[in-house]
This record gives sequence, C-alpha cells and structure tokens, in this order.
Amino acid sequence: MKKLGILLSGRGSNFEAIAHNVQAGRIPAEIAVVISNKEDALGLARGRQMGLTTRFIPSKGKEREAFDQEVMAVLREFQIDLVCLAGFMRILSPYFIREFRGRILNIHPALLPAFPGEEAQRRALEHGVKFTGCTVHLVDEGVDTGPIVCQAVVPVLDDDTAEALAARILKEEHRIYSEAICLLLEDRVRIEGRRVLHKR
Ligand code: GAR
Repeated sequence: MKKLGILLSGRGSNFEAIAHNVQAGRIPAEIAVVISNKEDALGLARGRQMGLTTRFIPSKGKEREAFDQEVMAVLREFQIDLVCLAGFMRILSPYFIREFRGRILNIHPALLPAFPGEEAQRRALEHGVKFTGCTVHLVDEGVDTGPIVCQAVVPVLDDDTAEALAARILKEEHRIYSEAICLLLEDRVRIEGRRVLHKR
C-alpha cells in the first residue's frame, strides 16, 4: 500500500477530502501521517479524531533547514511515497525538494501561473478576470511554479465576493486534488519537461 504524508497549517478541508476518498477506497493509498507546523490547526485536530497518526512540528523561530530536516525525518520514518501539501503555508527548502523531487504535490487556489502566492482568490477578483480556478502541481524550488498536474476552471460572477469565489474554488480543489494523487500513484502520468501528460 502506498503511503501519503499530509502537511498542513490550518483548516485542513483539502486533507479531509483526501481522507474521505482514501476511506472510500477511491485513492489507492493510506494516510500514514498528518504533520502540522501549527499546534492549533483544525486539520490536525480532525486528523486525530479520525484516528490518524499526527505530528505537530513547530516552525516558529526555527531556521528553514532545521524545520525541514525534522519534517523529512518523520516522512522517512513513515516511508512516505507521496507528500501532499494541503494548505501548508511555508516554503520548503531546496534541500527538501531535492530529497522528494517529483513526489510533492501542492494545491493552489488559482489557475497558475496566474496569481501565485497568497490571497490568490481575492487578487483574481480584484484583477477582474472572468475565470479563475485551482491547480494541483508538483513542487519545485519556486513559489507555485512546478509542473501542472490538474486544473479546474471556476467562473467569476459579477456579484462575487472573495469569500464566495473562494468557496466555489474550494469545491473544485477537493475534487482535483484526489484526482491528481490517483494519477501519480497509479503511474498514469508521463512528464515531458514542464508538461505532465495523462496516460490513457
Ligand atoms: C486552500 O484554498 C488552498 O488552495 C490554499 O489554502 C487553502 C487551504 O484550505 N493554499 C494556498 O493558498 C497555497 N499558496 P484547507 O486548509 O481547508 O485545505
């Protein structure tokens, strides 16, 4: 059985959606560990309630590499095949990326390469785009720059608020994150440069 390691910092709704699909047998893997750098992250509490193995690894006041080393030690301990960043609000060091290259996924609430970084939904609304959405991508050394695995489009409505738009995007996030995990775990992708092609 393949092993997933989840890294989160907050609410954890993407993690919950993944956990739900794992439980339902729609993702051929188990969640071996849920790691949070925030002690009060709702996602960490939910993981505990679900009976999953959880770890709180504080990041505050730590050098990036020192924190990453601690996370990597836990991921190695559990022999993690695929690392899923699910609202994990820290940038990983090149050292971490190198160690897990091609095996780290992230979800971002915009159609990358548009609106990388924070508050992507609000910035998309304020920019006036008619369509935005979400992206699951492999993580490389940049911020939200890695090869794109899956995307979903969400229209921006005239009377949208950032919150309403974010909620509709989140629904799509929950759907495509599991889809991307399955594609990678089942070896159904072929990577050509920046392009992640889906095998038929
Ligand atoms: C999600 O919308 C995710 O796309 C976003 O944070 C939210 C986490 O929600 N991630 C980023 O903005 C990363 N740059 P969740 O904790 O409920 O999954």
